[in-house]
Amino acid sequence: MNAASANFAHTTVLLNDAVDALVTDPDGIYVDGTFGRGGHSRLILSRLTAKGRLVAIDRDPDAVTAAASGATRVDDPRFSIHHTSFGQLVPALAALGISKVHGLLLDLGVSSPQIDNPERGFSFRFDGPLDMRMDTTRGESAADFLARAEERHIAEVIRDYGEERFAVQVAKALVARRESGFPVRTTRELSDLVARAVKTREPGQDPATRTFQALRIFVNAELEELEQGLNAAVQLLAPGGRLVVISFHSLEDRIVKTFIARESKHVVDRRAPFAPEKPTRLRSLGRVKPGAAEVQANPRARSAIMRVAQRTEHA
Ligand SMILES: C[S@@+](CC[C@H](N)C(=O)[O-])C[C@H]1O[C@@H](n2cnc3c(N)ncnc32)[C@H](O)[C@@H]1O
Repeated sequence: MNAASANFAHTTVLLNDAVDALVTDPDGIYVDGTFGRGGHSRLILSRLTAKGRLVAIDRDPDAVTAAASGATRVDDPRFSIHHTSFGQLVPALAALGISKVHGLLLDLGVSSPQIDNPERGFSFRFDGPLDMRMDTTRGESAADFLARAEERHIAEVIRDYGEERFAVQVAKALVARRESGFPVRTTRELSDLVARAVKTREPGQDPATRTFQALRIFVNAELEELEQGLNAAVQLLAPGGRLVVISFHSLEDRIVKTFIARESKHVVDRRAPFAPEKPTRLRSLGRVKPGAAEVQANPRARSAIMRVAQRTEHA
């Protein structure tokens, strides 16, 4: 059994809220930029008429396989799945002859099938190769990065993307281990090393949480992808079209919030204060957090924040 067909399920976060916010025209073209296991995609399709269309993408080949084959296949003529990243959305849609869409959904981060499969190396809860790439067809694994990077660079990644106070100590321990001829190659080796280097314990949190988050964000260039995906949204959305983004940690949410605020504000050029105001391209429609019942049923929803914006008619 391959990883795509293995029984790793994903419980979709903010399912109805996200699709309610996204679909405004049942005849429209929609993009699910993070297919995962298709929880949002299936509900979007149920809201569209025969004229509507849903283009789904995922950078993980297992997600694409799950959408295209076997029992999890989405068998619907209005649906297509494509292996790419949402940072590449503009050229990916251009290749399909699409230049405008009515809604784009980004449900960020990793899916449960990725976390729960030890072979993918995302979780300190299981022992496996320290990979962490969402797209296993390209790029450098976390282990390869730790085997070659300068200590200073490793410390910066763990500090900036994991907000880890002991980033310098973790990086030092990683390099010392590497120099003794035993670079970390597995999730267990990394989590044991971090547990020794991190001196204070946060209640209810494994000491490796921050380091794992940091390496995952770095290996997948998640924040750069997000910036590119948001810029693509403004370019691709038709007037009235919706951008819906669900994020799971403060680094992501800050980027989404700042982007929407910047695109929703009239910017006055201080060098030319009497020039006409630059028209705003988005209108913020606010944010939603999962309710207590959803968080209780699905602990992964705990940190979720959904932000919604609508494209204006201005170019
Ligand atoms: C939280 S899951 C999405 C779950 C999905 N909404 C569902 O209900 O099944 C995130 C998915 O987005 C994918 N992903 C993350 N970053 C991506 C990117 N930059 N481009 C394309 N896919 C990405 C991951 O591989 C993962 O499958």
